[in-house]
Amino acid sequence: MSDTPSRSHGRKSITASLQPRDLMEQNPRLSGVWLAQIITLFPDAFPGVLGESLTGKALKEGAWQLKAVDLRPFGNGKHRNVDDTPAGGGAGMVLRADVMGRAIDHTLRSAPEGAPLVYLSPRGKRFDQAMARDWAQGPGVTLICGRFEGLDQRVIDHYAIQEVSLGDFVLTGGEIAAQAMIDAAVRLRPGVLGNEASAEDESFSDGLLEHPQYTRPAEWNGLSIPAVLQSGHHGEIENWRKAQSQDLTRQRRPDLLSDQDDPE
Ligand SMILES: C[S@@+](CC[C@H](N)C(=O)[O-])C[C@H]1O[C@@H](n2cnc3c(N)ncnc32)[C@H](O)[C@@H]1O
Repeated sequence: MSDTPSRSHGRKSITASLQPRDLMEQNPRLSGVWLAQIITLFPDAFPGVLGESLTGKALKEGAWQLKAVDLRPFGNGKHRNVDDTPAGGGAGMVLRADVMGRAIDHTLRSAPEGAPLVYLSPRGKRFDQAMARDWAQGPGVTLICGRFEGLDQRVIDHYAIQEVSLGDFVLTGGEIAAQAMIDAAVRLRPGVLGNEASAEDESFSDGLLEHPQYTRPAEWNGLSIPAVLQSGHHGEIENWRKAQSQDLTRQRRPDLLSDQDDPE
């Protein structure tokens, strides 16, 4: 046991010596704490990378909570089958509506009021910083990870589930997408990033890509840090960064600039 004192968050207290994985399994629901629930066939994939670094530290400290709900026990028969062949024929398997329905009903019982219910899907709305901000400002999120050919459409329709995509490519399952999206949202929660300012001037926060970053050594492989960054002149540094940010955005992501002109 560590002698690190336990930290109090609302009505319960948790011990800082527990690992993120233990916290997912043992920790009681901390009332009012941002909660990510994930329905998955691979609960051992969590917390995964979310258990590392700042998100892991914040999880350990109870600044947010994570619950991976194993889909398998909701399956049918002795083998707890979760999938079946596609209606109408075709390759692969589809996650069954009855099985996923039971898992969703179970999971929604512990979902905070107002938390979006999301199916991770390449057909969904593309995840972006604005969505991460929305989720971070809410009470949490409930994510459904698909596998195989995906999920029976009736489940999506019945629960009016939002479909959200990590990008225009196809993953084998929703788990990596879930971790990426939770990471993007959790790091915007107060107290998760060590330096509160660092989320304020990074890429997308003001609709622009971030300026280039440099650190020591001042000279590397014959390349120097731009002189202005070593001038100590805060106004000039600020102007240089802004100009770099605008140039980079114009070159690489002109769509972001037109989004600013024409906010929808
Ligand atoms: C092999 S994919 C199924 C792809 C589906 N047959 C299609 O063509 O749209 C299996 C699961 O991975 C997840 N997945 C795949 N690509 C994704 C993406 N770009 N964003 C979010 N989730 C994704 C979804 O949960 C999906 O149900």
